[in-house]
Amino acid sequence: MDKNDIKRLIGELTLEEKAGLTSGEDQWMTKAVERLGIGHARTSDGPHGIRALDYTDPKANVTMPAVCFPTAVTTASSFDRDMLFEMGEELGSECHAYGVDVLLGPGVNMKRSPLCGRNFEYFSEDPLLAGELGAAFVNGVQSKGVGTSLKHYFANSQETRRFTSSSEMDERTMREIYLPAFETVVKKAQPWTVMAAYNKIGGTHATANKTALDEILRKEWGFEGLVVSDWGATHDRVGAILAGTDLTMPAEDTDMQIVEAVKNGTLPEEALDKCCERVLELVFKAEEGRKVSAEFDPEKAHEKARKYAANSMVLLKNDGDFLPLDKSEPIAFIGAFADVPRFQGGGSSHIIPTKITGALKAASEKGCKISYAPAYDPATGKTDTKLFTEALDLAKKSEKTVLFIGLPDSMEYEGGDRPHMKLPEDMNRLVEAVCTICPDTAVVLHNGSPVEIPWADKPKAILEAYLAGQASGGAAADIIFGDVNPSGRLAESFPKKLEDNPSYLYYIGEDDRVTYNEGLFIGYRYYESKAMEVLYPFGHGLSYTSFEYSGMDLDRWRPLDPETETVTVTVNVINTGKRAGYEVVQLYVHPDHVKMIRPKRELKAFKKIYLEPGETKNVSFTLGKRAFACWDPVSHGWTVEKGRFGIEICRNAHDVIARRDLWTR
Ligand code: BGC
Repeated sequence: MDKNDIKRLIGELTLEEKAGLTSGEDQWMTKAVERLGIGHARTSDGPHGIRALDYTDPKANVTMPAVCFPTAVTTASSFDRDMLFEMGEELGSECHAYGVDVLLGPGVNMKRSPLCGRNFEYFSEDPLLAGELGAAFVNGVQSKGVGTSLKHYFANSQETRRFTSSSEMDERTMREIYLPAFETVVKKAQPWTVMAAYNKIGGTHATANKTALDEILRKEWGFEGLVVSDWGATHDRVGAILAGTDLTMPAEDTDMQIVEAVKNGTLPEEALDKCCERVLELVFKAEEGRKVSAEFDPEKAHEKARKYAANSMVLLKNDGDFLPLDKSEPIAFIGAFADVPRFQGGGSSHIIPTKITGALKAASEKGCKISYAPAYDPATGKTDTKLFTEALDLAKKSEKTVLFIGLPDSMEYEGGDRPHMKLPEDMNRLVEAVCTICPDTAVVLHNGSPVEIPWADKPKAILEAYLAGQASGGAAADIIFGDVNPSGRLAESFPKKLEDNPSYLYYIGEDDRVTYNEGLFIGYRYYESKAMEVLYPFGHGLSYTSFEYSGMDLDRWRPLDPETETVTVTVNVINTGKRAGYEVVQLYVHPDHVKMIRPKRELKAFKKIYLEPGETKNVSFTLGKRAFACWDPVSHGWTVEKGRFGIEICRNAHDVIARRDLWTR
């Protein structure tokens, strides 16, 4: 079906049918027009698994079990584009098995505060990382003939008053922080759909925001797909169509408003036709996509989910190479999350898993001798005298302990933000007590967003497992016992306390106007610019091996003309340890002698590489204009100042390994 066929088809539709096409048939599907052979396109959440209704009997409203892959906060820490592509392929194939045409994800919103209840569904506080990984994921899913929905466009960084609040920020902040991840995914992957967020942007709902949808997304970035409202985010059907929201989801009984508006001349019929054209393009793309052959095996997918989780978890601390543990020594596992991990967040992305692997079971499958005490109620994170005493008794008897703690489900979910950044009090108490009795303790954390870790100096090791999907426990055991060498790096900063976070004074706002007063200074952009110590910086993560860098070089020493030239940066990385492992090479740009107010350092390129012991690889990055540019609010475009830029190869956002200077002209 080409564009002309679609136009012809639109010519045959009645006005009522056209209006109908711009809203859902039910919770998930677009409307069919049977007399013209127009079928449905079926959507489903997303993003890290399929929350698919049993469509053979929709009235029963039963969600089918599906593989719960690691959530975005976890996969972001992989810094691994190839992995995100492959996970996308898996999900795309699974969509075929469930009759899903469009998977609702990924979410590339920026993590403005650690408190956002949906942070676990988003990748990062850094737009480059979120955009690159989002693009890889979309390309993977779509390679299987299944669409995606890039969400939530845009400036949707809090859950409190998400339907009514207006995100207010200056033009630079919008262009440099809150838009680029969407821009990258659109330009590199052309998602079939983009989902307009619930919130307002600068006073206008995202679904009615012509600047965001028409001028920026379509005209500037060249988005070719369909804009769908977040579920229930359209407040004005006619306004949405005029702004460029093609499809309002789910079903609404407001289609007649559109019919009337066309009849009374307030809505030009061509605008409605344009939306119908995009809906039909989606429907026919979905039809074509269903012909793509895809195989899906839940057992194999579970093993892949385990591999992705292990490739993503972040070893935050490992004093004296405490980890990995020896499989032959007796170990105590303390904490109910060792048995059933917390592996996903609450809300629309909640998956009914096909199975769950806990660390306890995974460790015993490896032949390890594990004793266990639950220590707390996993639903609340609270302990009682019996559970607490039992746990301490076990710690007392044990040479080595692994403590599994984190945030319970009730503390992290869509629709609400956390009131604070703390772990449950009882869990903090437990760590202190266990580490005092048994200093040889490692802590495994399950949480979807940073938490305050007041006891960080107590255990020998800390593994940030995040919300790592249904195979989470297997992945944690693989790292704990050394079958996998950890290679995750934090995709967000861990401040020492909530008050240190740059959005702290303004987050959630006092009424529906939410001002982003910290502007460009989100996450590490703030901590680095202020020289503020954090607990763990963005990009931090340890390995069981060690890497050294040498010979950093630029392919030019003369000043760069950013309009016409690029610069290539090369560096050698050697694995100086005894184990094979992955290293994430991180390149930041540090504007030095410039006039504009800019963050001290910004991630501009990264690559994950595999090195055998003793092996050296030469890594190269080519940087173009955008690596040096900032948004000029006067000319409303990207501009590169004349000045000096430090090009820095870093271990993380704080730790610079090597630097070369480049002047621009
Ligand atoms: C969420 C979306 C989700 C949609 C459909 C909304 O409440 O914000 O992320 O895709 O529901 O479940």
